[in-house]
Amino acid sequence: MQYDQSVLVPGNYKVLLSEEAIQKRLRELGEQITADFKDKRPILIGILNGSFVFLADLIRYVNTDLEVDFIRISSYGDGRESSGHIKILKPLSADINGRAVLVVEDIVDSGLSVQFLRKMLEAFNPSELRFVTLLNKPEKKKVPVQIDYVGFEIEDKFVVGYGLDDGQIKRNLRSIYYIEQE
Ligand code: PRP
Repeated sequence: MQYDQSVLVPGNYKVLLSEEAIQKRLRELGEQITADFKDKRPILIGILNGSFVFLADLIRYVNTDLEVDFIRISSYGDGRESSGHIKILKPLSADINGRAVLVVEDIVDSGLSVQFLRKMLEAFNPSELRFVTLLNKPEKKKVPVQIDYVGFEIEDKFVVGYGLDDGQIKRNLRSIYYIEQE
């Protein structure tokens, strides 16, 4: 179903991934994740804030029992470039010792957040630790990272919508846009 959000979309925002393209890919990711985690009762850990829209949609394409938890970290603040300094703003609540864990990111850029999260979560001894990201920017990696499921590989453009913000707003857009520079 189309829902008109044009009032929220500035003229320099260009569609990168439509609502339909995102949902189609989520269905495929959901099938893969279902097959890999069937009957393991995984804990899906959403990395706030950006991943909450992706997580909410993704879990409804996963056809096995699962739990949900969240961690909040911040490396970007309100800026558009990673500061490289990662802060834990909300720690994990669940006990993941011996559990199958799937970390849910909206975007992997430099890879510093994934590197930080992997080290932090491995210390709790999960039985399995995998990562899914909706978007990956291969060109921007500062550290090598292993990501098990990638929704879309994208170019190095500033992207907003579907959970991703532009100065904390625009997370409620249903499609993903890139900002065309004048
Ligand atoms: C974004 C995103 C990742 C991180 C990726 O979070 O959600 O956590 O940046 O970048 P990296 O690979 O360079 O580490 P951000 O700090 O923008 O916070 P937000 O999710 O609250 O918008």
